[in-house]
Amino acid sequence: MLTHSVSIESFWDRDRLAMMKAKKVVVLRNGARRKFEKGFPWFQRNDVRMPEELGQGELVRIEGQDGSFLGIGMANRGARFPVKILTTEDRAIDGAFFRERLDAAWAYRAGMELESNAWRWVHGEADGLPGLIVDWFDGHVAVQVRNAGMERLKDVWAPVLAERAKSVYERSDMAGRKEEGLEDVNGQLSGDTPDRVEIFERNVKYLVPIKDGLKTGHFLDQRNSRYRFADRVKTGEKVLDLFCYTGGFSVVGAVVGAESLGVDLKYVAVETARANAIANGVDVPFVQGNAFDYVAKDAEASGPYDWVILDPPAIGKTKETRESLKWGIWKLVHDALPLLAANGKMVVCACTWQMNVDDCWEVIQLAAGDQGVRVVLEEVTLQDLDHPAVAHFPQSLYLKCLWVRRV
Ligand SMILES: C[S@@+](CC[C@H](N)C(=O)[O-])C[C@H]1O[C@@H](n2cnc3c(N)ncnc32)[C@H](O)[C@@H]1O
Repeated sequence: MLTHSVSIESFWDRDRLAMMKAKKVVVLRNGARRKFEKGFPWFQRNDVRMPEELGQGELVRIEGQDGSFLGIGMANRGARFPVKILTTEDRAIDGAFFRERLDAAWAYRAGMELESNAWRWVHGEADGLPGLIVDWFDGHVAVQVRNAGMERLKDVWAPVLAERAKSVYERSDMAGRKEEGLEDVNGQLSGDTPDRVEIFERNVKYLVPIKDGLKTGHFLDQRNSRYRFADRVKTGEKVLDLFCYTGGFSVVGAVVGAESLGVDLKYVAVETARANAIANGVDVPFVQGNAFDYVAKDAEASGPYDWVILDPPAIGKTKETRESLKWGIWKLVHDALPLLAANGKMVVCACTWQMNVDDCWEVIQLAAGDQGVRVVLEEVTLQDLDHPAVAHFPQSLYLKCLWVRRV
């Protein structure tokens, strides 16, 4: 069911092609060879020996200590992982390279029954394109560039995307870029992206704020969990959707006939959520506010709830901040558990690879114990299939949602 416009050969001149050939050599130390052989795409400072003179994000040839060719990568001295590998072939990183990778990523998703006209086309490292995120919204594309190498290669990949999409918009305004020495970018790369792009997921419409929403505009990774929720929620049930963004779960609930209420901190989220409710012909109150405060102070008045959805942002993506995320989730679960009706369900999500399913379950156990409430774990959902979790890059499995029931 996936379709995009037919690819056309784009202009490509020899000088630019030469620029995209790696000239400098980075030597991979023998101690890091095993990592490379397993297919892990990132190397730390002590894994490699780098040349003194190196442009930010410059393409490099990666060689073994014995001088053997290992691959082509992108190097950035200042980054936590200064070398990221693009290919193990000795080739130019040109338009043809990106066409191949983009086509492979497209073909991989073509067999998925996503029941939508929006999907993640490129999931960075998991699709062999470190640091490049590409989301497809009914022909309009939103991209995010996470490292200096992909930033430097923008002139190469952006025209290839432009060949295939009605419009390409860049949303590289994110915390991780500073670490790579990059400024935020928010702007049109080609075509003309509407302020709101309408997409569907099954029978639910969403307006996607590509230009001023969060990340690339819509949390495609939660699509399967929204579908699962649609299958489980029942007419007349009460749903509290905390961190609701544009009403992902709350609108689904209302379309099924539930009584939903959504809370989000951001004006653009709440405003778009209201528009989404209207687009689907349902009535959902959305509150702009802090979900931590709301659940602790205000939520009781409209409870008890048959469903509480907790889908906070990853406040911590590093080991150092993992503890604060765990505490944040404990606090939310702790305060939300008493709001559940008998047999009420809670969906607890964590979107960082730093917290695995066991960590989340431990946090829920602690919160339930502290409240003296009994819960049973019923199922676990992960990021949807168009966000592949590949074994050779463990960081690619980042989203997990634990579905628990109060018993
Ligand atoms: C992962 S998104 C939720 C996605 C949503 N469940 C969906 O299906 O589209 C997290 C949301 O949390 C919101 N947020 C962040 N901090 C918040 C806070 N303290 N209180 C309420 N919302 C917050 C962000 O604005 C963002 O919309």
